[in-house]
Amino acid sequence: MEIDPTTLSQQNLYKLIIGTVVPRPIAWVSTQDENGLRNLAPFSFFNALGSNPPALMISVNYTGARAQGRKDTLHNILETGEFVVNIVTEATAAAMNDTATDYPAEVDEFAAAGLTPVPSHTVRPPRVAESPVHFECVLHTSLPLGEGQGSTTLVVGVIKHMHLRDDLLDDKGRVDIHRLQPVGRLAGNSYCYVRETFDLVRKTLK
Ligand SMILES: Cc1cc2nc3c(=O)[nH]c(=O)nc-3n(C[C@H](O)[C@H](O)[C@H](O)COP(=O)(O)O)c2cc1C
Repeated sequence: MEIDPTTLSQQNLYKLIIGTVVPRPIAWVSTQDENGLRNLAPFSFFNALGSNPPALMISVNYTGARAQGRKDTLHNILETGEFVVNIVTEATAAAMNDTATDYPAEVDEFAAAGLTPVPSHTVRPPRVAESPVHFECVLHTSLPLGEGQGSTTLVVGVIKHMHLRDDLLDDKGRVDIHRLQPVGRLAGNSYCYVRETFDLVRKTLK
């Protein structure tokens, strides 16, 4: 099958892209608005970008339900320049899904999902206590891509502080995936565990 993207509807393109770019990690993003009201929502257009400076990206899609097409998360990041990425685990997957509900801006998703906000060290938005990994970020770049339905804004954040639950590390100081127990996003309402892994040793040319 050959596909010219200009011949498909935006919805069909979206379905094919999220069904094939899998599994996606999930950033559980906490922010605050200009009055200090908390917000929490998941984003699977998420990845790590670099380590000097340490940087992450999320991509926040257009919504017709909010002013300027901006979800609360994007509004808050652009207003305050700060956000925290919390990592979603098997234990917090259901709560993460609760926070994806399209609540009005005045609803605090920490309270709605029964989660515990804990103060961050370098930014104002709190962290999710129930999450074992937190990245405190400041906005580096925001890049709008397209207009209207299906468009998005790429948000690049530089990590100012990291929290890792002590028991995640093995005796060599590496993160043990079986202790982290992250979940990945597939298409639609589907998710995956990361329980079965394998190793490949890279060839060296000498
Ligand atoms: C697992 C998961 C991943 C999601 N990923 C994204 C994403 O990458 N970009 C996006 O715009 N919305 C994504 N959403 C939808 C947002 O979480 C949802 O629109 C949320 O209500 C936004 O909240 P806010 O308006 O408080 O920012 C995702 C939802 C779920 C459940």
